[in-house]
Amino acid sequence: MIRNRNISKAMTIKLEDTLKELPQLPEFVEGIRRAPKRSFTLTQKETKLALKNALRYIPEKWHKKLAPEFLDELLNMGRIYGYRFRPEQKIFGRPIYDYKGNCIEGKAFQVMIDNNLDFDIALYPYELVTYGETGQVCQNWMQYRLIKLYLENLTQNQTLVVASGHPLGLFSSPKEAPRVIITNALMVGTFDDQENWNRAAALGVANYGQMTAGGWMYIGPQGIVHGTYNTLLNAGRRQLEIPPEHDLAGCLFVSSGLGGMSGAQGKAVEIANSVGIIAEVDYSRIQTRHDQQWVREIVHDPGNAFELAKKYQDKKQGMAIAFYGNIVDLLEYAVKYQMKIHLLSDQTSCHAAYDGGYCPQGLTFEQRTELLKKDPETFKEYVNTSLRHHYELIKTLVDRGVYFFDYGNSFLKAVYDAGVTEICKNGKDPIDGFNFPSYVEDIMGPLLFDYGYGPFRWVCLSGKRQDLLKTDAAAMEIIDPNRRYQDRDNYIWIKDADKNDLVVGTQARILYQDAMGRMNIALKFNEMITNGEIGPVMLGRDHHDTGGTDSPFRETSNIKDGSNIMAEMATHCFAGNAARGMSLVALHNGGGVGIGNAVNGGFGLVLDGSDRVNTIIRSAIPWDVMGGVARRAWARNENSIETSITFNKTRKGTDHITLPFIPDENLIEDVVAKVFEGSRSFFD
Ligand SMILES: NC(=O)c1ccc[n+]([C@@H]2O[C@H](COP(=O)([O-])OP(=O)(O)OC[C@H]3O[C@@H](n4cnc5c(N)ncnc54)[C@H](O)[C@@H]3O)[C@@H](O)[C@H]2O)c1
Repeated sequence: MIRNRNISKAMTIKLEDTLKELPQLPEFVEGIRRAPKRSFTLTQKETKLALKNALRYIPEKWHKKLAPEFLDELLNMGRIYGYRFRPEQKIFGRPIYDYKGNCIEGKAFQVMIDNNLDFDIALYPYELVTYGETGQVCQNWMQYRLIKLYLENLTQNQTLVVASGHPLGLFSSPKEAPRVIITNALMVGTFDDQENWNRAAALGVANYGQMTAGGWMYIGPQGIVHGTYNTLLNAGRRQLEIPPEHDLAGCLFVSSGLGGMSGAQGKAVEIANSVGIIAEVDYSRIQTRHDQQWVREIVHDPGNAFELAKKYQDKKQGMAIAFYGNIVDLLEYAVKYQMKIHLLSDQTSCHAAYDGGYCPQGLTFEQRTELLKKDPETFKEYVNTSLRHHYELIKTLVDRGVYFFDYGNSFLKAVYDAGVTEICKNGKDPIDGFNFPSYVEDIMGPLLFDYGYGPFRWVCLSGKRQDLLKTDAAAMEIIDPNRRYQDRDNYIWIKDADKNDLVVGTQARILYQDAMGRMNIALKFNEMITNGEIGPVMLGRDHHDTGGTDSPFRETSNIKDGSNIMAEMATHCFAGNAARGMSLVALHNGGGVGIGNAVNGGFGLVLDGSDRVNTIIRSAIPWDVMGGVARRAWARNENSIETSITFNKTRKGTDHITLPFIPDENLIEDVVAKVFEGSRSFFD
């Protein structure tokens, strides 16, 4: 029989070596948000399995003490987080030089992980949730400690493999290979649903990585401000006929959510010079955004909210107003009193609506937490009733001329799940999409992703603000603002980035760029590192991009050749990035839209000023984007075809994209009509 003593001896990297004795249970700092209890439906047998699973990290001498403690966490929180193992000291992304490690990548990833768990950044830091209600860095604090230990040990000839937060181990690999490979929540098809995921998460074998939480590439709410700004500007241009050179002065945008990503809405509204009313049920989140000045006014009454908005609209002055209350109450008022709204959306965490992500009308935030804990089934009924009413209000507003779009939070899917089949284009299921557009379908997809513009980002690992300013200036030099209006928007964004005071946490920046823009900026940064102008830089991107994500309700909602249900682009992107030597590659299930609804991936590349990294930049960065453009072109997306034609020309001899021939629509109509003649009713 295998003895624990022998198991311990067989490992040189283990938790117990970092701990002289069992750490004390932490004092939870007051005011720091805590996750609600998660769905717990394990049987007695499964509960035993969950306990045994968690104790795998723990040396035998502590089992007696920890078994009841872990059981308590499981029963009260729905998960075993191992709170006792959370380090006592403040967690934040320190300068890279403060971390121990055998290679630069090992240290760089520790900066990123700690940044993801900073009290100022993470949504529920004690539960390792960075953002998006359920997006975790890893499942528990034992994994956190072990991952950090592995990163300290990692050399340039090893790869750390992380499966849903669990560090499987270090495996030898060439210097050119990725240093870290991460997967999160990838489930086998038959079991790829919320119920099985809940069970697997409670058992401690599945982690919901969202996009950049489990991919260790979150850079605070700034990460989404640029995308939100782009979305609002382009929604205005498309729907309100605002010319490209104008901003959104005088327009009113109404939405909900001031959380991890949704918290970007206020800031983006102001940068676009429009007025926004954002409903939020959790006052602590309003307070956070107000302290940051990402919302400037707080109101408690819908009437006051619209009155105040009107004042700033008339002055043509940008203003972000937080309404402390439920979005459904706000919309009820707007319908009743015929308020004029220009753009309308929603950013509650509907990808996890029944898990606390959507606060139903009639319950305060605190009551929602209580009911969720006591009676999840009744909570679900509340959510469904509220969503159905929410949908009816939106329909009325849209009939009156408001432009509503789904903001990638699975709102439309949640309404469908609440029993509203009429929300589907085909009236029965979501396979052909929904009656309202997703912001990607109408805006981000055709105007940005199809060209390859996406959320390129970097972190100055030195922690120095000066480095960030130098990289901002260098990136600005590379953009030609006169090429397209998208380039002008990006140029203005980076020019004003410092002024807009976007940094929370590490010295990070987001900048939408296309494939070649990203490559050229990366090469420039690496040159600056070689010359000693700046310290090392971590490059990455949001998964919410051209090529990394297959998500029919969001990123790939403007793919119309039927391949929107395929997940091959994200898989190719991940494999291709690994093959080209990105420092970190990640592939997840669920993204921002929930389990089974997306496969999404990202990367991290540590720039160290070397020629080796230049080679990676030249092959991996164009691939990361153009694989997506190629797929979009094959789906007959016009802007992608145009981008691919240019790519085939400029990269002749090195790259080549297959392009689709486009048949005449009339020809197709005629040919099909002839065959189906007389069977029209069947065909329709
Ligand atoms: N902005 C984007 O581009 C983008 C990108 C990816 C994902 N998302 C999706 O957007 C959603 C929000 O993301 P997040 O990180 O902000 O999540 P979050 O959970 O941190 O924030 C959502 C906020 O909505 C509030 N809320 C819930 N129900 C409400 C209601 N009925 N009325 C008013 N407020 C309510 C919650 O209190 C919470 O603060 C997620 O589903 C996420 O996946 C958005």
